[in-house]
Amino acid sequence: MKIILLDKVDSTNDYVKKFIKNGETVAVVAKRQTKGKGTKGRSFVSDEGGVYVSVLKFYSGLKASEAYSIISDTAVAVVKTLAAFGVEASIKWPNDVFACGKKICGILTETKLVGEYVEYGVIGIGININNDIAPEIENVAVSAKTITGREINIDSVLATLLFNIEQKQEAGLYARYSCVLGKKIRVVKPSGDSYFAVAEEVLSDGRLKLVGGEVLTAAEIFLE
Ligand code: BTN
Repeated sequence: MKIILLDKVDSTNDYVKKFIKNGETVAVVAKRQTKGKGTKGRSFVSDEGGVYVSVLKFYSGLKASEAYSIISDTAVAVVKTLAAFGVEASIKWPNDVFACGKKICGILTETKLVGEYVEYGVIGIGININNDIAPEIENVAVSAKTITGREINIDSVLATLLFNIEQKQEAGLYARYSCVLGKKIRVVKPSGDSYFAVAEEVLSDGRLKLVGGEVLTAAEIFLE
């Protein structure tokens, strides 16, 4: 895999799109981002000390209806990577990785579909490693440094992550690493309605099935 290292960029997800015409896998890594992008149009704070990487990957035969596998495989790779550095993490549906009850990593994928298939995907990963967490988000976000009590070598994290991303992930690992499945959660619908439920299964299209049969597409969920 070609790897491009930058000191500073607006967003690695946007920068890596320059390479689409080459048709090859490429990873763009930045020490910090000035306009890190999160899901739902949110921004992603990207101060020095974190890992910010976007991987451009081309697919053949991946159905659009199964594009969630890009996120689920990435989340599994992140959990394995953090474990290698002493951080026990788990996957919070749909695109976060949590440790000690707080967010340690966010994943933003952008896919290009052609007909019913995914042509390519930009897989953006931001992991809090040695970066300080802003006081206003300290109650919801955490870094690996805070958890382990020591600075972690960023280059080693990156090398491990890129290695893990290239591996085929074993079926069943997503469910094993999930902190949602089988758990009581609070569901908050876009309308603002909220209620408690138990998460049962993440379907192959990425929707979350609750015990009782309801299936969630767009909702915020909170762990109890
Ligand atoms: C989220 O938590 O909402 C997703 C955050 C994704 C952040 C990563 S950092 C690397 C890549 N570049 C971006 O601009 N965003 C992703």
